[in-house]
Amino acid sequence: MLKNDLLLRAAKGLDIERSPIWLMRQAGRVLPEYRATRAKAKNFIDFVKNPELAAEVTIQPVDILGVDAAIIFSDILVIPESMGLPYEMIESKGPHFPKTVKTETDINALNIADANNLRYVIEAIKLAKKELNNRVPLIGFCGAPFTILAYMVEGNGSKTFSKAKQFLYTQPVLAHKLLEKITESSINYLKAQVSAGADLIQIFDSWAGVLSEDMFYEFSLKYISKICDAIAPTAPVTVFAKDAHYAIEKIASTTCSVIGLDWTINPTQAKLLVKNKTLQGNADPCLLYANEQTIVSTTHQMLKSFGKQRYICNLGHGLYPDIEKEKVKFFVDIVKNFKYQ
Ligand code: CP3
Repeated sequence: MLKNDLLLRAAKGLDIERSPIWLMRQAGRVLPEYRATRAKAKNFIDFVKNPELAAEVTIQPVDILGVDAAIIFSDILVIPESMGLPYEMIESKGPHFPKTVKTETDINALNIADANNLRYVIEAIKLAKKELNNRVPLIGFCGAPFTILAYMVEGNGSKTFSKAKQFLYTQPVLAHKLLEKITESSINYLKAQVSAGADLIQIFDSWAGVLSEDMFYEFSLKYISKICDAIAPTAPVTVFAKDAHYAIEKIASTTCSVIGLDWTINPTQAKLLVKNKTLQGNADPCLLYANEQTIVSTTHQMLKSFGKQRYICNLGHGLYPDIEKEKVKFFVDIVKNFKYQ
């Protein structure tokens, strides 16, 4: 039995005394403790593949920031790698794929991953669960199939992902074939995460915002929905499709339990559009550069707008590495101490 199950109760729409809080990228460079652990590994990929170190940084934000959930330390790019497309993480630049997907032959050469290809993440989840000792829930995750395709085709991060979008426009049949393979791999992976102890699953569609509305439904939401159907019977699922707030009613018609929101949508409007799901978000991470007074008033306004029930407090995207750790802790404490009228 979990000692603090606020996140799970909020996700299921059960009554809660206060809204739970966790932060995207809470296991990351804002914590000096993370940087110290990371320095023990040769590079980012070795770090991700070391279950002891991954479990250690997974727990850090729970101990240091007092958040109501842990998220397993890994990366969405472990999926392409497990399918046979390795990546590199270039210091202060981001991911790079030496080989990208261009043709049907490239897609045929990819395998459908299963838990055996990703045993190091499963091992890290088991270790983290043990060390958490039921204090708070553990969140598992994967990238949405479209965001994963975007990296596999583009080969690196991009403002426009125009190569990936060119692929969708010129090779739609191949794109669907690749999305199917990524979806199947992700379902295998997430099922193994839940069996290993992940209490809730979040799907990150970080690049949903580069698609038009129709393209989002055809190339992204369709596959997110398949993943929700496969996982929802075993664990609640959160769908975070960044910059796709026009789609929240359609996202709400999937079998997900929680919809993640970025800061471009107004909470009151989101609540009007979505009745049967829990909302998560949506403070601008840059709010944490502001002075304490501004952080307090903006956070209080957000908490009032979302209301106590069916709400999980978070940022609208991940923490930036240069945000001060003290400001992050300050934000977490404001949320935990907020008195609802
Ligand atoms: O605390 C957590 O949120 C859990 C760990 C986590 C990481 N990546 C660790 C990480 C999670 C959930 C992710 C997901 C992820 N990875 C996403 C989706 C979420 C989002 O931010 O939109 C994406 C798009 C990626 C791909 C990725 N990984 C990029 C673009 C980068 C480089 C950018 C950067 O911040 O440097 C990474 C590297 C990465 N993944 C870091 C961390 C903590 C930083 C690497 C480091 O320690 O040097």
